[in-house]
Amino acid sequence: NKLEMELEAIEKGGYEHFMLKEINEQPRSIADCMRGRLDAKNGRLVLGGLRDYMNKFQNADRIIITACGTSWHAGLVAEYLFEEFARIPVEVEYASEFRYRNPVISDKDFVIAISQSGETADTLAAIELAKSKGATIFGVCNVVGSSIARATHAGCYTHAGPEIGVASTKAFTAQISVLTMMALMLGYQRGTLTESKYIQLLNELEGIPSKVEKALTMNNNIEKIAAIYKDSRNFLYLGRGYNFPVALEGALKLKEISYIHAEGYPAAEMKHGPIALIDEEMPVVFIATKDTSYEKVVSNIQEVKARKGKIIAVVTEGDIVVRGMADHVLEIPETAEAFVPLLSVIPLQQLSYHIAVMRGCNVDQPRNLAKSVTVE
Ligand code: AGP
Repeated sequence: NKLEMELEAIEKGGYEHFMLKEINEQPRSIADCMRGRLDAKNGRLVLGGLRDYMNKFQNADRIIITACGTSWHAGLVAEYLFEEFARIPVEVEYASEFRYRNPVISDKDFVIAISQSGETADTLAAIELAKSKGATIFGVCNVVGSSIARATHAGCYTHAGPEIGVASTKAFTAQISVLTMMALMLGYQRGTLTESKYIQLLNELEGIPSKVEKALTMNNNIEKIAAIYKDSRNFLYLGRGYNFPVALEGALKLKEISYIHAEGYPAAEMKHGPIALIDEEMPVVFIATKDTSYEKVVSNIQEVKARKGKIIAVVTEGDIVVRGMADHVLEIPETAEAFVPLLSVIPLQQLSYHIAVMRGCNVDQPRNLAKSVTVE
């Protein structure tokens, strides 16, 4: 009815879709997530939910992360973060596999369950299983008071605000923000991260919301690129290191809202199979930011180019090498390598959004999908 439509329009805050609103909200939602927790000037980082469990966390033999979908992708980013900064081995598990695998878990394991809704059935079941084996369970949830938030021993809310679009955007960046703060705290406490490096990273993290703001300004370019590739049948997303999970996430976003088949791969895996798919019809989205695997990704780009694939590259501001090779480049600001996913995912969210809109898809409520999967 008319009143409901008016209410919805108000909730969308002038945006055509919730997804677009939520993409654009990210500078604020990330800042909200860090508010009261991160104070770089005074070298302080406090996560209230972790206080009573810091000992367990610090002395864990292993960190097991369990989640589904986009939240699982955030878990993959966290694997890189925890291993780099805190030097604790990490396993990232699809909750649906973990729960039926009779996994080896003990009371020395620290399990992190990630869920926007806090209601995902498989994640909840994975938690109950790990709990029954004596592990400590920590939740990273967005919805306050949700089932997963209640089932865990402790946790940290992402404070991204309500996410209405079925495709997760701001919840993902908020999850990564929480996990980044956890990894930095853990690394500092364990002494695997030096004080000076820690302070430097805290400062860089505090500046992320304004860099996300800057990354969002690529929107008009992205709309033009979307118009060129909207009728493609397939897409490939490639990235390495911290950007490998971002490639998976970019591909998932495109699939779920535009119904175009897309696959994400670690860039180097390309030559073990997916390279066979490349021809002049195939757009390949590379995340080629200036980091430790940059040179290697550049040579992967050359390999795709030699096979006439169309290249859309997310690059660090000012990059001229990739600019000379790619069909399209999308610039994001420079940051610490570990924080790049918070920026590199932005243009991929925008790209999927515009392609879906141009294809006439129901962006906020794609076919066959529910916001939270509360059944197996
Ligand atoms: C993300 O865009 C998807 N709609 C989906 O993969 C989602 O991330 C997954 O179902 C997990 O949901 P949760 O974070 O609420 O547990």
